[in-house]
Amino acid sequence: MQTLSTAAISCALNRMTDSHSEDDKDMRASTAKLHLATDTADEIDLVIKDVSMRFDTRQGTVTAVDGVSFEIRRGEFVSIIGPSGCGKSTVFNILGGLVPGYDGDVLVGGERISGPHASIGMVFQEESTFPWRTVIDNVAFPLEIKGVSKAERQAVARRFIDLVGLTGFEQRYPSELSGGMRQRVAIARTLVFEPRILLMDEPFAALDEQTRVLLGDKVLKIQQELRQTTLLITHNITEAVQLSDRVLIMTFRPGRVKRIVDIRLPRPRAGDVVGSEAFGRHVAEIWNDLREEASRGMAEAEQTARLRGG
Ligand SMILES: Nc1ncnc2c1ncn2[C@@H]1O[C@H](COP(=O)(O)OP(=O)(O)O)[C@@H](O)[C@H]1O
Ligand SMILES: [Mg+2]
Repeated sequence: MQTLSTAAISCALNRMTDSHSEDDKDMRASTAKLHLATDTADEIDLVIKDVSMRFDTRQGTVTAVDGVSFEIRRGEFVSIIGPSGCGKSTVFNILGGLVPGYDGDVLVGGERISGPHASIGMVFQEESTFPWRTVIDNVAFPLEIKGVSKAERQAVARRFIDLVGLTGFEQRYPSELSGGMRQRVAIARTLVFEPRILLMDEPFAALDEQTRVLLGDKVLKIQQELRQTTLLITHNITEAVQLSDRVLIMTFRPGRVKRIVDIRLPRPRAGDVVGSEAFGRHVAEIWNDLREEASRGMAEAEQTARLRGG
């Protein structure tokens, strides 16, 4: 399997159903390997053990994350949900190796994370496509860095462009695409590097609700196909329930694990699962937990505003 990463962009893999060329054979080998990995039942892929993070600010020390522990199994889809400011992005950045000064342990394959890791790919909330590059050159970028030949990287990029549903847009520039399409370009670019673990921080936050649900479907299909271990950070309950095997609810500052909910909805899940009764029950259950934390967040924000107002 290919491994390499930059801080923001990393790994991936392909499904290759109807493939013909030489490098397709490699791809199929990778796919086989990945499936083998997911068949290893209940193998723990990611261990987060008593992780805390404090920031020194002019107002004093802020404990963003406090003693967070959980484990993620190989191929599992887990969402982290919590009110604004509860430390979701901090957890994400620690897992991605972007915050070396954290307390506790994050282990991938038994190895403690202390910088960007080859098997972890990240998709960010902000738009991160390169505006001066076409879609195909955006997606092929990580392979270019890695020194893959032009013909090969274009072939691989095309497959991932197809996977995210952007075939026909290869030569467009990001400014010629919608926000949802640009985010799919960013996802494809992360996927070309074969991340065994995919981290996404509110990847759909800037999109409207319909696009968000449809893109959620797409991400789910890709994940079911490639079987990466996936961690999605979100503040959207519907999204978390629609996509996840488990949802981890965080408390408002300092961010701790409030509860982890098993989502017992059958797979494969299509967008229409959102209308089912079982879905509604999960949403209500999570909202109950979240409401308490969101209210605390709101009360604190109001208090701060009052103090500032004198
Ligand atoms: N680099 C930083 N320096 C100081 N404070 C930070 C930094 N990053 C995050 N924080 C603080 O940590 C808390 C959690 O932030 P964050 O992880 O971004 O929350 P979320 O993603 O859940 O909205 C917030 O109070 C935020 O202001
Ligand atoms: Mg955030």
